[in-house]
Amino acid sequence: EKDGYDWFMRKEIHEQPRAVADALLGRHTESGALKLDEVRISDEDLREIDKIIIIACGTSNYAAMVAKYAIEHWTRIACEVELSHEFRYRDPILTRNTLVVAISQSGETADTLMAIRYAREQKSKVLAICNTNGSTIPRESDAVIYTHAGPEIGVASTKGFVTQLIACYLLGLFLAQVRGTRFGDEIRDVVEELAKLPGHLQRQLDESASVLDLAKTLADAKSVLFLGRHAGFPVALEGALKLKELAYIHAEGFAAGELKHGPIALIEQDLPVFCVVPPRGRDQLHDKMVSAIQEIRARGARTIVLAEEGDDDVAPYADVLLPLPVVPTLLQPVVAAIPLQLFACELATLMGHDVDQPRNLAKSVTVE
Ligand code: M6R
Repeated sequence: EKDGYDWFMRKEIHEQPRAVADALLGRHTESGALKLDEVRISDEDLREIDKIIIIACGTSNYAAMVAKYAIEHWTRIACEVELSHEFRYRDPILTRNTLVVAISQSGETADTLMAIRYAREQKSKVLAICNTNGSTIPRESDAVIYTHAGPEIGVASTKGFVTQLIACYLLGLFLAQVRGTRFGDEIRDVVEELAKLPGHLQRQLDESASVLDLAKTLADAKSVLFLGRHAGFPVALEGALKLKELAYIHAEGFAAGELKHGPIALIEQDLPVFCVVPPRGRDQLHDKMVSAIQEIRARGARTIVLAEEGDDDVAPYADVLLPLPVVPTLLQPVVAAIPLQLFACELATLMGHDVDQPRNLAKSVTVE
């Protein structure tokens, strides 16, 4: 039941604080050590892994892209991300020491299922990240991390996506713990930040009125661009996918560093461009993103900027500023996804579309 919401999607967006809390529940100790009992691969085998390949489709593939940044950083294991259907039909290099991670909300996506069957034939270990208990993909995997988001009915993935991110962070931290690539206190610091996410998300949802106003001003947009860098790049792709699926308008996500290699030619007067700004930090990511925003604004684009609250460097270049809670760079996708989900839901509602059942789409894609 929709609990008084107009759409399952809106209900599921609002369930995310609880879903993230459930995804974290029981998976770490008081002292911040990871406990992933469900990973039935021995520590010895986990220490032998020399490559990780994460496979998924659609939104789950964007969770995989975020996972690569986190897992490589924490574990120093080389990590590739590939669409399941591309992986299956090329000739991937798989050995006993390759860990294939399959991410699927439904657990029934045929493209991903065929890919894991192939990986297991090649003797690689397969770990599923899945939301649906007892579904086919986890049943055919060596191990599974369930995301515990609860049933997702809306075709557009929302709580499915953010809990996939949580599961990927937990996996990365767990591997780092088992392999000793990160010290306990470093892992504990990240776990503490993860534990704050439900509160951050709740506050974002409570203060989301400006996203709804924004949708009203963009109801006649013909095309919308999304820019991000680093872990914000997959968020840009996800924001664009949500808009395509629900509002049926042309939307594209780019890595901001790629602008001058082509996409900047698309920028014209009043084109809406969502920009996901990395947190201010030691590296140059933030400043480079701010320069990109200056460039596109100078060419007349309408900049809708998602940046951490208090980021005064970027505020002057934002036509609309959507503040994000202050979190570490690698965790920012969780909080940055929220306004983009709300925006797509609201715009599609204003346009009179069926948000829960967009045209031509099925919730689980059970044919290749
Ligand atoms: O169930 P899965 O996670 O395997 O589904 C993968 C995609 O079909 C899915 O994420 C799709 O892109 C969603 N409709 C996105 O909102």
